[in-house]
Amino acid sequence: MGRRRHKKRELNEYILLREPLSREAFAEEEVLIAGLARTFYEADFFWTFEEGDLVCYLHEMEPGEVRDFITGPAGTAVLKRYAKEQCRNPFITLLEKICAIGSYGIKGGRRIFVGYADERKVISRKKKAEERGAYYYTTGHPFTRNNKALPEEYRDTIICGDSEEVLKRLPDNCIDIIITSPPYNFGLDYESDKKEDAQVWEQYFQKLFAVFLEGIRVLKWGGRIIVNVQPLFSEYIPIHHIISHFFMEHKLIWKGEIIWEKNNYNCKYTSWGSWKSPSSPYLKYTWEFIEIYCKGDLKKTGEKEEIDISDEEFKSWVVAKWSIGTERRMKQFDHPAMFPEELVERCLKLFSYQGDVILDPFNGAGTTTAVAQRLKRHYIGIDISSQYCATAEERLKKDKKIGDQLVLF
Ligand SMILES: C[S@@+](CC[C@H](N)C(=O)[O-])C[C@H]1O[C@@H](n2cnc3c(N)ncnc32)[C@H](O)[C@@H]1O
Repeated sequence: MGRRRHKKRELNEYILLREPLSREAFAEEEVLIAGLARTFYEADFFWTFEEGDLVCYLHEMEPGEVRDFITGPAGTAVLKRYAKEQCRNPFITLLEKICAIGSYGIKGGRRIFVGYADERKVISRKKKAEERGAYYYTTGHPFTRNNKALPEEYRDTIICGDSEEVLKRLPDNCIDIIITSPPYNFGLDYESDKKEDAQVWEQYFQKLFAVFLEGIRVLKWGGRIIVNVQPLFSEYIPIHHIISHFFMEHKLIWKGEIIWEKNNYNCKYTSWGSWKSPSSPYLKYTWEFIEIYCKGDLKKTGEKEEIDISDEEFKSWVVAKWSIGTERRMKQFDHPAMFPEELVERCLKLFSYQGDVILDPFNGAGTTTAVAQRLKRHYIGIDISSQYCATAEERLKKDKKIGDQLVLF
């Protein structure tokens, strides 16, 4: 137990806990409070009566020690008084409240209840950032802040063609958000070219990065690239790491990663490495990744009135694990690898403003463009397959018709 320390802390260094009594303090309680003050550090905590409440000014404490003191010889008189008056013990009630709020750490055997933010604060953060570079891998980036409008002829369009070529026609810094799910090179049965999705890996990454390079160029300062990617686990190719490495090498800031939990427990493989043997057990995954990168700045400016995310959505979606079922209408849209609309909706509401220009360079059956239109964003969707582009157009028209009818109502 501690000795009495004369000097109290500043009052703002304590948190205040109250237990209402709605009566005058008993003499026995005043004696107990004096005993507590003699025994424990005032700088750690102290008790008093204020306006009919028992109050504890708390900085740090070991509640077990205090409970022992109150229920030990020093508390005998007060315990007798409570028994006589048939009233509860407010010291114990307040101690229970203290235990319930939780502490963030232990110092010298005592639980610390305040000053969390101060303790965690990095000392001279600004200076350290200057010395280290804020995002050390982006120092010396070539980006300008000279954002431009997307030329009118590309606004709200679906363009059929090779993205690398199409994007070359756009000016620098004209797109707010790129959201996409690139072809995975898994050998999926795309309408465009059945061999295309099973190229040699070097060739695959060369093409993918050529498109991404154009993507970086057309992205505005403060714009974001959001890439949905599934590693090829069966061939031990961590595509998400390779893509992250590429973007960071090209000076984008890695904003973070969302786990898209698909809850897909369908076991594709019947043999899991060697059954129950440590020789090479096969790991199974029910999720994909969403990687987010920023150009120039983590912050994206926009008008407050153009934010359309609700309080509940924000609270829930900033927790970076999203449980969303896979798209069930792939047969209907005749596309083998669509992402679900909800995934795009969450990304757009969390990372963009209404009126922003959204690009998907691998637009497929047009999930991104459909959601962008519904959420009052401008869009440009590119796909190499004319069939998928027609599907994307069809989806936009249908949604627009429904939207117009709703407005008429
Ligand atoms: C994973 S899918 C995207 C699906 C889309 N997210 C959806 O929900 O419908 C990838 C798409 O990229 C297209 N693609 C492949 N190479 C391309 C290229 N060089 N330029 C444009 N699109 C390409 C494929 O035709 C395919 O539709």
